[in-house]
Amino acid sequence: MKANYLFIGIAYARGVHWQEHRKFTRVLIREFGWGKTDDYYKIIQTEVKCVMKELIDTKKGESFDPDIFYHHSVCNIQCQFIFGNIFEYNDKKAIQFFDALEGFSLDTNPAVMMTIFPLLVKIPFGSTKRVLSHIFVARTFIRGQIENRLALRKKLGNSYKPARKNYIDCYLDEIEARRDQPELEFSNDFLILALLDIFFGNQTVGDVLTWTTLMMVYHPEVQKKVQTELDRVIGPDRDSDVNDRYNLHYLNAVLFEATRIRPNSPFGIPRMTNEDTSICGYFIPKKTYVVPNLWSVQGDGKYWPNPMKFDPERNLDNNGVFTQQSRVHLPFGI
Ligand code: HEM
Repeated sequence: MKANYLFIGIAYARGVHWQEHRKFTRVLIREFGWGKTDDYYKIIQTEVKCVMKELIDTKKGESFDPDIFYHHSVCNIQCQFIFGNIFEYNDKKAIQFFDALEGFSLDTNPAVMMTIFPLLVKIPFGSTKRVLSHIFVARTFIRGQIENRLALRKKLGNSYKPARKNYIDCYLDEIEARRDQPELEFSNDFLILALLDIFFGNQTVGDVLTWTTLMMVYHPEVQKKVQTELDRVIGPDRDSDVNDRYNLHYLNAVLFEATRIRPNSPFGIPRMTNEDTSICGYFIPKKTYVVPNLWSVQGDGKYWPNPMKFDPERNLDNNGVFTQQSRVHLPFGI
């Protein structure tokens, strides 16, 4: 398979290549304990503290755009698992990389259009041109990291032991292990593409934080209620803990509503049918691109009365307990 950087990796891959890379990544995520272990939560806590310190030290009460801080911090957390280390906020190359990822997320919809209409890759203009340049910067950074790692592994041989289990080293081990199965397509080039997808996918977290902040700016009464709940559940004398989320019903309702009213992948990821099929009476032939319109579903008044209203209360029951009232909340896809 030719390494076309828009159509392989994980998200936009097909067939065996997609299955194998998806399976490999899912297993690793489970092994890393992503979202499940104290180690993971400590990394997040540390990063949150760094961001807060940076904001307090540099902004000193001035207004600022939080978007860049959200995206950089989310990326830095990701870097722990991908590279096994974080980057300093003054590391120029890393900042370039983070900026490219953030730029990609700002131009996400043209990127999706390029996957729906691949011809756009050949005639880039405006934001599609920017998307290609973001991909180029991010790819160059990731390639550099992989080359450094390969050089270190070669130099130290069997005595090489990464300080933290990480995606790059596990993937390089996998290339070795699959040396006799070239058809399964694990290679340095494909590693770069898989990492691009993971990093670009990860941008959605920063986007959700930015949209939620914006919603609270527009709805100060919501912000006030979030603050009241945080003061009551956590208070001023301790750090937040991941288990607090079970008691932060209003905050959950706000996040849920923000991802409903502003799904950050409104067209999900285009998929292709493997076989002739039909959905709700519509015949879809084999090998048809299917593009889910999550935006339309989540804004459908049939499921969400007054859909354009930002209304976290709709996700709370009469006792103020967070509850998923509707099945058609699909920010993570179908
Ligand atoms: C609020 C957070 C997130 C949202 C709303 C979101 C949204 C989505 C959506 C809509 C899809 C398409 C699913 C489909 O085809 O049906 C997707 C796929 C994907 N996302 Fe996310 N995502 C989020 C977080 C993340 C994170 C943190 C990562 C990386 C660690 C990530 C990596 C990916 C990858 C690799 C795929 C492709 C999966 C595949 O092809 O099987 N996403 N995401």
